[in-house]
Amino acid sequence: MNWPAEAIWEAVAPLVPGFTVEVLPEVDSSNTELMRRARAGRNEPVLLVAEQQTAGRGRLGRGWQSAAGDSLTFSLGLPLAPADWAGLSLAVGVSVAESLHPAIRLKWPNDLWFEDRKLGGILIETASFGEGGGAERYAVIGIGLNVAPRPAQGLSTPPAWLRELLPYAEAPDVLQLVAAPLVADVLNFAQAGFAAFQRRFEARDALRGRAVTLSDGSAGLAQGVSATGSLLVHTAAGLQAISSSEVSVRPAAP
Ligand code: BTN
Repeated sequence: MNWPAEAIWEAVAPLVPGFTVEVLPEVDSSNTELMRRARAGRNEPVLLVAEQQTAGRGRLGRGWQSAAGDSLTFSLGLPLAPADWAGLSLAVGVSVAESLHPAIRLKWPNDLWFEDRKLGGILIETASFGEGGGAERYAVIGIGLNVAPRPAQGLSTPPAWLRELLPYAEAPDVLQLVAAPLVADVLNFAQAGFAAFQRRFEARDALRGRAVTLSDGSAGLAQGVSATGSLLVHTAAGLQAISSSEVSVRPAAP
């Protein structure tokens, strides 16, 4: 595949000294690879594209299956020191959705949806480095996007794919659209926090105003997100602010 590594590097290097773009034909998982490097003391800024992942990972211990060419799988590794990490995955979702298409919605905390089907997901992990004490951590921001049709078998949410919206898209084109704006948005988040993204999230919130059920057994009406990115749900017990990424949420069956 012909990846736009040079063009991305030219756009990002002025913002992030030492930035590199790397493409691996195969790796277990681009997130696992960058976390391994971080644990070995490497915390350089990098965009790592995996053409094929043999052990892709999703949130909540789930797997992430993808076939080479039919999806875009990459991780952005950056040393970051935001005052508050809350809402980073929402900010990343906002950035990717805005770069791709107005019809893409965001399902809290970090799924990209099209017509209530899952187009992509975000997995953020962080590693500490240095002598401890400092606020800076190495953030690994992993993104998987379906580009071509994929079977629904084994998925809890039926899939969507980008060619429904961008008929001729190939994975490298999609990377070209999202990569540089993503870096800029993540740097903006590190400076200004989630507040700068709250309105933009609201404009694409897939759950707002809908009845939802939560994996902790509660149910209610989704009311948007707070200034720190918590999901606000009006339940029988009152307005709940859900911040734990261990809780999963879905629209209630109609
Ligand atoms: C989810 O929906 O649960 C998150 C999926 C994240 C998948 C991406 S693909 C690139 C990066 N490497 C991984 O192993 N996972 C993320």
